[in-house]
Formats: sequence, C-alpha cells, structure tokens
Amino acid sequence: MRMVDLIAKKRDGHALTKEEIEFIINGYTNGDIPDYQMSAWAMAVFFRGMTEEETAALTMAMVHSGDTIDLSKIEGIKVDKHSTGGVGDTTTLVLGPLVASVGVPVAKMSGRGLGHTGGTIDKLESVPGFHVEIDNEQFIELVNKNKIAVIGQTGNLTPADKKLYALRDVTATVNSIPLIASSIMSKKIAAGADAIVLDVKTGAGAFMKELADAKLLASAMVEIGKRVGRKTMAIISDMSQPLGYAIGNALEVKEAIDTLKGEGPEDLQELCLVLGSHMVYLAEKASSLEEARAMLEQAMKDGTALETFKTFLAAQGGDASVVDNPSKLPEAKYRFELEAKQDGWVAEIVADAVGTAAMLLGAGRATKESKIDLSVGLVLRKKIGDTVKKGESLVTIYSNSEQVDEVKQMLYDHIKISAEFVEAPTLIYDKIL
Ligand code: URA
Ligand code: CA
Repeated sequence: MRMVDLIAKKRDGHALTKEEIEFIINGYTNGDIPDYQMSAWAMAVFFRGMTEEETAALTMAMVHSGDTIDLSKIEGIKVDKHSTGGVGDTTTLVLGPLVASVGVPVAKMSGRGLGHTGGTIDKLESVPGFHVEIDNEQFIELVNKNKIAVIGQTGNLTPADKKLYALRDVTATVNSIPLIASSIMSKKIAAGADAIVLDVKTGAGAFMKELADAKLLASAMVEIGKRVGRKTMAIISDMSQPLGYAIGNALEVKEAIDTLKGEGPEDLQELCLVLGSHMVYLAEKASSLEEARAMLEQAMKDGTALETFKTFLAAQGGDASVVDNPSKLPEAKYRFELEAKQDGWVAEIVADAVGTAAMLLGAGRATKESKIDLSVGLVLRKKIGDTVKKGESLVTIYSNSEQVDEVKQMLYDHIKISAEFVEAPTLIYDKIL
C-alpha cells in the first residue's frame, strides 16, 4: 500500500477499507507517514466525508494505536459521559457523585487541559487536600468500594488521535464530522467505557453552532457506538449561553454541591437529571428512563448524592467538610457587580465570550504552562429571558485583581439586553438513540 494512492482514493470520493485505514493510522502513529501526506488525507476527508463503516474503522484504529484501560475488575457496566465543549459546564462534577449514589460505577479518567476554566481535576483540587495521585489498583478498589474515583490521565491513550488532532488544528481540518466523531469516541473507548452518554452542545458557545450539525455529529457518534459494540446515546443541549450560573473552578464546585442537593440552577439540574437517567439506564440499574430519573431525584432529595460526594472527596484526601461549609473553598479577594445599563429582558449571553472573560480573570489556562487561579470566575445573576432593571447585577465578578475594566467591557459587549420580551432558550433540543 502507498499513502499517495490512499489520498487519491479519498480525494476522488471513494470509501477506504478497514485495512487501508489501519495502514494510514498505524503509519502515521509510528512516523512512517509524514505530516504533509496526513494533512492532504485529512483535507480529502474534510471534503469527501466518510461512510459509517469507515468512521467506525477509523475509531478502532485510533483506539488500538496505544494503550487501552482495562476496567474489567470493576463490577457492573461502566458508563462514561462526554460533553462536547461548552462554557461553565458543571455537569461532570455533578453527574459523577449523582449516578454513583444510585450504584452506577464511575471510573473517571480526567485531564486538566486548556480552556475557559480548568478541567475536572483542577476544579476538584479546589477542595483542600484532594488529589488524583492514586495508582490503577487503588483506583479500581475505590470504584468498587465507593462507586466513584477520579484518576489523572495514565498510559499512552490514543496517540494517533493526539497527533492527528494537533495536525488538524493547524491545517483547517478540525471541523469534519467523521474526524470529530472518531476522535471523541476513540478516547472514550480506550478509557474503558462499556456504554457512553454523549452531551452534544449546540449554539454560540459550542463547537457545533448549528443544530443540524450537532445532530449530524451526535448521529455519527451513536452509529460508531453501535458498530463497535458500545451502547451509546446522545442528547443535544443548548450552549447559546453558559450552563448554570458559575464559570470558574471553586465556584463550580460550589454550584455542583448546590445541584447535588437539588438546589442548583434550573438548567444545570435538568440537564444532569436527563443525562444521568440515560447513564443509569445504560448501566442497567433501572428498567426505564422514568425509573432512573426518579432514583436520581430521590438521591438529591434524601442526601445520598451529597453523601457520595463527601465519601469520594475524603477517599482521595479531600476535606469533605467543604460540602457543608463551602466558605472553606478558595475565595477571591474582590467582588464586583456588572450593573445593567438599561431595563429590559436579557437577550444574549454569548457563551464563549463569557468564558474568555473568566479566563482573563485567571480561571483557565491559555497555555499548558499557565497557572490556574482556582478562586476566580464569574457567577451569572441573569440568564436569557430574565427581566432586568437598570442598576441590577447581571454578573458577579470574582477577582484577585482590583482592576477588572477589560473583563467588564468584554461582558458588556456580549450580554445584550432587549427592550422587548425575550423567551428563554430551549435546553434540550433532541435525543439520538
Ligand atoms: N474534541 C475532540 O476530542 N476531538 C475533536 O476532533 C474535536 C473536539
Ligand atoms: Ca456552570
């Protein structure tokens, strides 16, 4: 086989065989196929697309390009959840303890990463003492005992995806549905998921700005799951504005605590219940989605969800008393209110701009070397569709710097108030089974 022929085949719109795809992925991973040929191939895929069969083959070739995590010693069906991007997305923090509290094993491998806020591990590290330096054996033991544990990225997972994603980033080939779908699914499968619940975001703050594209991506991933024997379901949810109120690390931990008590922001809580019921159902802990939802609502109400969160934090060195006493979380020195300049209805809160504002405060990493400030961030006081009076706070800014003019300007530029009635956006657009 020659790479040049496979590029030409894809360029001319033909489907590649499983063997051809494996040749490409193996060759690229071990350095036999150079970046320039891989770039040309990615561009051909971008324009020509891939069949469902090709996409599934690409996913599995990337899974097998490196290590895979063996979770077979964990009892039960391991369900993982993945949200595609988003701003202030506190769902992972809530869903872990929530579904674990009804018996679903949550064996979460997580990262830090770049973005508006830190990753799940950074957020959890705002709990004093909490750490993820546990070995695989302890990890498995903890999941069997408490139904939940979080470990940092271990092993060499999907090196093909790592290399290809970085290449796509600089060759304008990120936005291809088969490439995105296989990239996401390969990572979940390599991390040991038996079943996968996907939360595909749509709207201004999402990867897929248009609903139609979000549906195509969700369908592509559900189809991969079917073809490779992982039960997969997808929810399409709104990311035109940030989810919940808090965007920041400690601030989101606090928001997660509220939500586990059933006292969280309405949109965050509803999305967690919907995603959570799918996880419980796929884990076969309930025989219907309705039953699953009722179990989760009960766990929020009777304190089991919160108790599970405390047990989990303590098992990994964390001070679980923060749950009852969130003032023990890192707190920023200053608070500023962003006051509305007119009466009306909130019409727009551009999610990615709000995320960038949080990052300017220090909540996220711009480069791998940047240090995160766990205490800072934003708490929205209004969401789209809310009425607002001139002088009322739209956002509380938590900062360790006295100077927040740039952040304020950025927020004013991206939060629009309309003199006419505005309806709250739909939270859940669709479901793909
Ligand atoms: N996220 C991923 O992990 N991969 C993509 O290709 C796009 C988004
Ligand atoms: Ca949030």
